[in-house]
Amino acid sequence: MFLFGGLAVSIKDLCGLWLLWLYGVLYGVLYAPDTQHRIRQCRSIVNFSFASAEDTRNTGSSSNGLHVRLGLRAKANQQLADALGIHNSLTTTDPKVHWAFLRQVGQRLRAMDSATQWQKLYGYSEQLLEKAVDIRNATNATNVETHTAHSRHKLAALVRRVCLESVMYVLFQASGLDPDDVSTVCDEINKQWVLSKAVPAAAAEGREVREGRMEQRQDSIVQQSPQLIQALDRLLQDSPERENLSPQQALELILPSYEALWRVVLLTYVTVCHRQPCDTIATADIADIASVIGTGSPRETELRKIAKEGLRLFPSSKRIYRAQSLSSTDTSMIAANVSALHRDRDIWGPDSLEFRPSRFHDDMAAEQQHAYMPFGLPLHRCPAYDGFGERIILLLVAVLCTRLGPDKASIVYNDARLDGNKEAELPSGRYDMEDWVLALRDGMTRK
Ligand code: HEM
Repeated sequence: MFLFGGLAVSIKDLCGLWLLWLYGVLYGVLYAPDTQHRIRQCRSIVNFSFASAEDTRNTGSSSNGLHVRLGLRAKANQQLADALGIHNSLTTTDPKVHWAFLRQVGQRLRAMDSATQWQKLYGYSEQLLEKAVDIRNATNATNVETHTAHSRHKLAALVRRVCLESVMYVLFQASGLDPDDVSTVCDEINKQWVLSKAVPAAAAEGREVREGRMEQRQDSIVQQSPQLIQALDRLLQDSPERENLSPQQALELILPSYEALWRVVLLTYVTVCHRQPCDTIATADIADIASVIGTGSPRETELRKIAKEGLRLFPSSKRIYRAQSLSSTDTSMIAANVSALHRDRDIWGPDSLEFRPSRFHDDMAAEQQHAYMPFGLPLHRCPAYDGFGERIILLLVAVLCTRLGPDKASIVYNDARLDGNKEAELPSGRYDMEDWVLALRDGMTRK
């Protein structure tokens, strides 16, 4: 026994302290630098700083300017531009197109700058969902598990339709849309997107190495879809924007928002309402969203953590791709694995895979703040990062939860692992939710 300033410390305590110290040092040596390295590397891909030396060389320019960043991104997104015929910030190499597109987006998002607008959107999205579950994809009464369900719906298709219609309402004030045309647009976008991403995704899954570098991709030609443009044209018939906007231009605006939305909305809704989120999110909390959305109140800030946590576990861009260089002879790509950083146990702790909105408190560790990038990073951070993105996710999740909560519906995953265990981790790939079925109970969707 030793006495330090009146404090009695036994040999056992000293050994314990020493082991604790050793653990801290070893943890620092073995894990922390690696974690820091992964965060830095991912950020350097997303913010393009990886490219400065390379591209100064390739372009003969003295600055790593906007044209280089656009070029590296456009090259990675070339297939998307071909498949959907879109020329927006995400696919252009032309700074003028980029700035003009950002201006348009800014104008449209600014229109949602009041609580009244958000509440109008809330009401409209509720109606959409009600209409969609009443008339689309419903089959006859079916027995599911132990209760009687009136009808069944393919959940992913349902959420995609509600997201698309909500986005078209925000961007073009288009409402009362034909359900068949809405389905065609959703299905065709999905088809084209999958075709356009097939090559880089296969490379990323099969051959990605630690640095996120991928092997060269084989370019393949993907045809644009005439059905998509025709259906969009019909959907825009009654929009006040009809005169100023071709269906192709509308698609350019729709894609970044709709594609960013549907998976995160679907997975957050399922997690909050039908799985076992770690924090207790009470029905009352979800019901509050309708009245606080768009207000900027402390209560809204608190509830927006649900969207933040959804975006952490299910980021819209799981990987962000860049071309390795602008040289025409180098077709290799690199990918920032945002999803892996968002779920990293060394960064987020042992509960990194659990849905816990309260982790977004004011004193979040610097490492967590650096590792979190659902909207990308400056200089090309998403224009929706400053409120719009989280609000629309929160709104759609709330509409789904209040209309299709566990008292009104259940989900059949058609997957023994998920059906048998509510705590099993949800898969989040583009195709992983296609077999999930929403089974409605008696009397849904009325409140
Ligand atoms: C709702 C959730 C959204 C998420 C999670 C999201 C996510 C992202 C991400 C990760 C990037 C960075 C891409 C990169 O670095 O290559 C990005 C960029 C961008 N997003 Fe979003 N987005 C969302 C909504 C929207 C909406 C509603 C619009 C417009 C209608 C939009 C338009 C854009 C544009 C134009 C860029 C390029 C910005 C630039 O290059 O300066 N996004 N978004």
